[in-house]
Amino acid sequence: MKKVIGSCIGETSPIKVSFISKEMPQVGEYVSLTYDGKNVLGMIESLVRGSVSITEDIFDPKTIQKIREIEGDDHYIRGGVRILGDLQDNLRIPRTPAPPGTEVLPASKSDLEEIFPLEKSLKLGSLISQDQVEVRVDLEKMFSRHLAILAMTGAGKSNTVAIVIDGILKYHGCVVIFDMHSEYDINYQNGSSKVIRPEINPKYMSFVEIKRLSRIDAKAYIQERYFAEAYRLVQEEIRNGDINPYDFIQSMRKILEGWSSGETKFQGQDVSKEKQIVDVINKLEDMKRRYSSIINLAAGKILTKLELGKANIIDLGSVDESAAEVIVSHVLRHALENNKKWLRKDEGQANLNYPIFFVLEEAHLLAPKTRNTEAKFWISRIAREGRKFGLGLCLVSQSPKSLDPDSLSQANNMIILRLVEPQDQRHVQSASENLSDDLLKQLPSLNIGEAVVLGLMTKIPALVKIDEHKNKEFGQDLAVIDLWKKSSQEKKELIQKQRNEIRNLGGDY
Ligand SMILES: Nc1ncnc2c1ncn2[C@@H]1O[C@H](COP(=O)(O)OP(=O)(O)O)[C@@H](O)[C@H]1O
Ligand SMILES: [Mg+2]
Repeated sequence: MKKVIGSCIGETSPIKVSFISKEMPQVGEYVSLTYDGKNVLGMIESLVRGSVSITEDIFDPKTIQKIREIEGDDHYIRGGVRILGDLQDNLRIPRTPAPPGTEVLPASKSDLEEIFPLEKSLKLGSLISQDQVEVRVDLEKMFSRHLAILAMTGAGKSNTVAIVIDGILKYHGCVVIFDMHSEYDINYQNGSSKVIRPEINPKYMSFVEIKRLSRIDAKAYIQERYFAEAYRLVQEEIRNGDINPYDFIQSMRKILEGWSSGETKFQGQDVSKEKQIVDVINKLEDMKRRYSSIINLAAGKILTKLELGKANIIDLGSVDESAAEVIVSHVLRHALENNKKWLRKDEGQANLNYPIFFVLEEAHLLAPKTRNTEAKFWISRIAREGRKFGLGLCLVSQSPKSLDPDSLSQANNMIILRLVEPQDQRHVQSASENLSDDLLKQLPSLNIGEAVVLGLMTKIPALVKIDEHKNKEFGQDLAVIDLWKKSSQEKKELIQKQRNEIRNLGGDY
């Protein structure tokens, strides 16, 4: 006989019941209710403890003491259960609510194991409430409906990303990680990583991308006009084979200088502002200097460097925010163009012919809510259209409130770890129809590595302890005290060594 958790009380509905219990179950625990010939699965989403006699209108601690002496332990536990569906009817929500008095039983291990699929799945971890039950999610749905991994710093996002990467590598998939903190070049169990230098050839850059790097102000219309025309002419010359593509920036400069000296005539509406042209030339030179590490006139298309079955890491740890934005938008734009060609069977046109999963760390910086960036444009394009073209997104952020709500709401799947800030919580809830008020209230009390897992990738929402990735401890705080100790020890040793040397030379020490 199974242990009974409690019994339904009060008014019930097909999607929610309350129950009373004597013993404490766990939030996130799955329960089953049998009634009207159905076996219905539910999840405990809230728990409170109360007492009939020690009520809120008692103001004297002594009275409480007396009641406890007389009544003993008269606590009750009231829980809220969200109904997840009928186990015998493909988890469809039952039409009738459970009659009050229905017993609430723990769900069986075998029922739960059937719900988390084995085939084509990715193992995230195990249930917090029943750690023998492994939580696996549908990898294809995770890919096609995108994923968001959200939590405050230190809650376990990077570790979760590593688990997801490894899960994809198991199927020989292609993952591209925009690695903002150079932390993902680690040993994966199911494949290796490949670090790709973030280099782009200006020949393949769009006008918006190169303009972003040149830091021409959005309001500097005249400068933009010169810059755009010089860029267009150079592109045309390269297409015609008139100049070597390696001379891209040099050629732009030459054209600008021609206009400035009056040697050649600016074809657009000539505003004859020599100073503006000189400014543009300076910005071009400044760009070349500032971004010498990412502008490589000999670089091939980044996309051609990707490898199937590998964690392709685009290391953005040492570039600034503008460069990161340009690289992300550049890669996403090319991937979308490429996969459209591939799937429309433009023979010989596509560089790659397989689906790609992109991981975007610090997604709130790349797709900010309050600013329009080129990266944000392509992220939201892929969030909306990627499904059709074999492009999946994983948005990782510690500040969901600053993340573009359009892109976030396209991420149907969510792994939410500890999240304390109320504004962040509200933002996440408004982007996900699956996150109930009760589950939302659980987010601040999750421990490191514990998460609410939601979306089409899982048939039922789950409270999961994410597996710890074996190969590296992520984001460890620096052991500052030890580091200071080590440094001062080294300093002492150095001074001692110098004294000894002086002494050996017959000095005073
Ligand atoms: N699922 C987990 N199990 C055990 N430890 C974890 C887990 N997730 C994270 N940690 C530990 O917590 C720390 C912070 O994790 P990290 O993934 O870097 O967090 P975030 O990326 O959210 O800042 C790391 O030291 C890591 O080892
Ligand atoms: Mg991290």
